[in-house]
Amino acid sequence: QVAAASGHTVVLVDQSDEILKKSTKGIEESLKRVTKKKFADKPEAGAEFIKKTLKNLTTSTDAASVVHSTDLVIEAIVENLEVKNELFKRLDKFAPEHTIFASNTSSLQITKMANATTRQDRFGGLHFFNPVPMMKLVEVIKTPMTSQKTFESLVDFSKAVGKSPVSCKDTPGFIVNRLLVPYMMEAVRLFERGDASKEDIDVAMKLGAGYPMGPFELLDYVGLDTSKYIIDGWHSLEPNNPLFAPSPLLNKLVEEKKLGKKTGEGFYKY
Ligand code: 3HC
Repeated sequence: QVAAASGHTVVLVDQSDEILKKSTKGIEESLKRVTKKKFADKPEAGAEFIKKTLKNLTTSTDAASVVHSTDLVIEAIVENLEVKNELFKRLDKFAPEHTIFASNTSSLQITKMANATTRQDRFGGLHFFNPVPMMKLVEVIKTPMTSQKTFESLVDFSKAVGKSPVSCKDTPGFIVNRLLVPYMMEAVRLFERGDASKEDIDVAMKLGAGYPMGPFELLDYVGLDTSKYIIDGWHSLEPNNPLFAPSPLLNKLVEEKKLGKKTGEGFYKY
């Protein structure tokens, strides 16, 4: 959405036409929300902006067949290293020499994905934040193999889609998640100990620390499955780090398929 809205030609790739239809509908709805604000007193210009943006966006279920005409691939599939590596390995065969590959992973090592390809110097991380049309930040991740030219291209692309890039090494959680995820897990532990209700913890962080959402609202918004993937991955890397300890309550909710806002229930009901 943000790439198409800033004049880039985008091919959105997913597993089925059904998913793509749902995604396109989501983008249309999100564009309407953005436009309502941006073109508050110029509805015609707003309608034109939506039309132009959607014109820049096509869809496909076959990444290998569309990658030949792309300068940049941004992967945002399931948080599973084997599945990601498989995809990158395949695309590496079909993509032009100059094409840069980037992953939007929340917690996996970019270096490991780069090593699945023959373009380690043209590989980096581009980590966006929910909801992407609203959140201004992009973390640009440089592995020890990412070339300066690739890094600069990723920074330029981030700016061209209207974001403010920051740079970080390929370290677990990069900047934001390394701070945000342990904070959210501490909130869950506070609640698990019975020290405060989740409602009060959320109110406290909103009114006492100025956060736009409390930790439980944010966990539901990000997705409890995504949060669990992140914490489990870090726990296996550093089993003795108390900040990365798994939470029985989070595990139970994920097991019950209560994954947050997207499934209608997480810590709260929607
Ligand atoms: N698309 C487009 N616009 C959107 C949007 C979306 N998906 N969601 C919200 N907006 C915009 C709309 O313009 C909306 O105005 P509207 O009422 O006219 O539609 C405006 O935001 C305000 O939205 P709301 O009134 O619904 O609610 P808020 O004022 O609370 O703002 C929020 C919503 C921007 C999501 C805000 O609550 C917020 O900043 N929350 C924290 C988000 C955060 O921390 N994100 C990072 C998560 S971590 C992550 O993503 C990393 C990953 O690796 C896990």
